[in-house]
Amino acid sequence: MQTIRVNTPSARYNVYAGAGLLGSLAPRIARIAGRPPRRVFVLTSPPIWALWGDKFSSSFPEPPIALFLPAGEKYKTMTSVERLAREMVAAGADRSSLLIAFGGGIVGDVGGFLAAIFMRGIPYVQVPTTFLAQVDSSVGGKTGVNLREGKNLVGSFHHPLAVFADMDVLGTLPDRELRAGLMESIKAGIIRDRALVRFMEDRRADILHRDPRALEKVIADSIRIKAAVVGRDERESGLRMILNLGHTLGHAIEQATNYKALLHGEAVGWGMIAALHLAERRRTISGKEAERLVNLIHRYGPLPELKVNAKRLLAAAGSDKKNSGGVRRFVLPLGIGNACVIEDATDAELMDAARAMLAQARAAATK
Ligand SMILES: NC(=O)c1ccc[n+]([C@@H]2O[C@H](COP(=O)([O-])OP(=O)(O)OC[C@H]3O[C@@H](n4cnc5c(N)ncnc54)[C@H](O)[C@@H]3O)[C@@H](O)[C@H]2O)c1
Ligand SMILES: [Zn+2]
Repeated sequence: MQTIRVNTPSARYNVYAGAGLLGSLAPRIARIAGRPPRRVFVLTSPPIWALWGDKFSSSFPEPPIALFLPAGEKYKTMTSVERLAREMVAAGADRSSLLIAFGGGIVGDVGGFLAAIFMRGIPYVQVPTTFLAQVDSSVGGKTGVNLREGKNLVGSFHHPLAVFADMDVLGTLPDRELRAGLMESIKAGIIRDRALVRFMEDRRADILHRDPRALEKVIADSIRIKAAVVGRDERESGLRMILNLGHTLGHAIEQATNYKALLHGEAVGWGMIAALHLAERRRTISGKEAERLVNLIHRYGPLPELKVNAKRLLAAAGSDKKNSGGVRRFVLPLGIGNACVIEDATDAELMDAARAMLAQARAAATK
C-alpha cells in the first residue's frame, strides 16, 4: 500500500492506495476520525453494494446506514441531494455523523456535496470504486451536481478526511471503464511525469490485465501528481488548470454527443490527441514525441468513433469559454512531462486541431 499526502491551505489528509483496504475500513477510519462518530452513513449505488457491500461492512461492529443513489449521470442532481439529506435526518443524522462515499465519481461528487452542505458540513471519507474516481475525482475536494443547463454547475470545495483507493474493487470494473480511466493517468504523465509515460508504454499488458503491482504504481503515481498540483493551487486559480489537458475538446465532444456515445476518459483521449496536434503546430513538442503519445493513447483504447463535425465541436468549446469570462484556457503540452496553460489559442488553431483529430477518428473507424 502507498500513502500519498494531500496538503492544501484548507485541508491535510492522506490517500491510501493498495490492495485489501476494504476489509479493514472501520479501524482505519476510527484512527483518522479521532472521536468515534455517533452514526456512520454510506452513500453507494445498488450495483456496487450488491458486489461489494458485504466486504465493505465486514470491519464495522455496527453496519453503516446505507443510502442509495441509482447509477447514472442523470441522478447527479440537487433533487437527489435533497432526498438523501432528508433520509439522513430521518435516520437520526446530526453534525457528528460521518458519511462515506463508496462508488464511482458520481457517488463521490454527490456524497462530497451532501457532506459539504448537510448541517453546514459534516466529515466524509472517499472510497472510490472506479479507476477514474481513484486516480482523479476522489482527490482534490471538488464536489457537486449537475443542472439541466450543464454539468457540475452547482458544487463546493469540501475535502474528505481520507481517501481509500482499494485496487481489489477494480476487479469487477468493466474493461471499457478501466481503459477510459487510464486516459487520466496518461494525461497525468504527459503534464508532469515522463517516467509514468514510459512505464505505461512498457507495462501496457500488465496494466490492462490488472496486475496488482503495475496497477498500484499507476494509481499511486497519478494520485501523487494530482495531489501535488492541487496542493499548489487548491481553488483552480492557475496551475490546477493543467489537469484539464485534453478537456477543452474532450468536454466539447461529450456535449456534442449528449454524454451518450463516449465515456469521459474516451472523450479526453481524443481531446489529448487534438491538443498534441496543436502543440506540434506550435512546436512546443516534437513530431516524434507527439506521435509517441498519440500511439500510447490508442494502445489504451480503442477510442470510440466520433460522429460529430468540427463546427459543432467548436461551438461547444465556445460555451466552455463563456463560462470563464470570455477567456479560453487551453492546456498545451511542452514535450513529455510538462505542460502550460495558454489563453491565446485561436479559433483557427482549435478548428485545425479538431479537424486533425476527426481525420484520425475516421481513419481508425475504417481500419
Ligand atoms: N470531483 C472531481 O474532481 C471530478 C473529476 C473527474 C470526474 N468527476 C465526475 O466523476 C463522474 C464520473 O465518474 P466515473 O467515471 O467513476 O463514473 P460512474 O460513477 O458513473 O461509474 C461508472 C460505472 O461503473 C459502475 N461501477 C463503479 N464501480 C464499479 C466496480 N468496482 N465494479 C463494477 N462496476 C462499477 C457504476 O455503477 C457506473 O455504472 C462524472 O460525474 C464527473 O463529472 C469529478
Ligand atoms: Zn477528466
